[in-house]
Amino acid sequence: MKIFLDTANVDEIRKAADLGLIDGVTTNPSLIAKEGKNFKERIQEICAIVPGDISAETIATDWEGMVREGRELATWAPNVVVKAPCTPDGLRACKILSDQGINVNVTLVFSTTQGLLASKNGAYFISPFVGRLDDIGLDGMELVRDLVEVIENYGFRTQVLAASIRTPNHVIAAAKAGAHIATMPASVFNTLYKHPLTDIGMTRFLADWKTLPNYEEAIFPKRA
Ligand code: E4P
Repeated sequence: MKIFLDTANVDEIRKAADLGLIDGVTTNPSLIAKEGKNFKERIQEICAIVPGDISAETIATDWEGMVREGRELATWAPNVVVKAPCTPDGLRACKILSDQGINVNVTLVFSTTQGLLASKNGAYFISPFVGRLDDIGLDGMELVRDLVEVIENYGFRTQVLAASIRTPNHVIAAAKAGAHIATMPASVFNTLYKHPLTDIGMTRFLADWKTLPNYEEAIFPKRA
């Protein structure tokens, strides 16, 4: 499963990317607004840090506007993926942009039928919002499972991008559901490698190691 960071904060992105584990980044208007920086410059900055797919969202609500914006966004960097909402206009824009070879991430997907339609119109990614479905008492991960099954049934090129991930358990469930990608905030990503027993184990190993005579020279002996 690919791991994407769901943020427009370059410090968070650099730190996580340095571990070699970040395959892409998703942004949305809320995340861009939070940073208070120039949209184009920030997207280009992120595209230069992470060579994988970087989602940048259209703002228009009509399909002509989305297509116009999508064509422009796609010129900002070769790894930009244009995000469009799962509305009738967004689906129409997805078809037009996809037919022109522009990768589209259909976002705000909350049902299997929405995901099916986006896949039929050539979506590169579909983004089911797991956390927001959980928030209203539904099972967001069930949608991820259904979408993976539908895509496999028909051999769509679309990848399921599990979005609105809120906890490490969401990440595990997305991987078990066969999601192609999970996008998550840095706060969730940074919990994935942590375990108290790893920290305790390290402390004990180092303490024991230091009981050896000349432990500092054990690997790189000083030359006489
Ligand atoms: C995905 O592309 C969205 O940016 C994101 O996952 C939304 O998450 P939220 O529901 O936590 O805002």
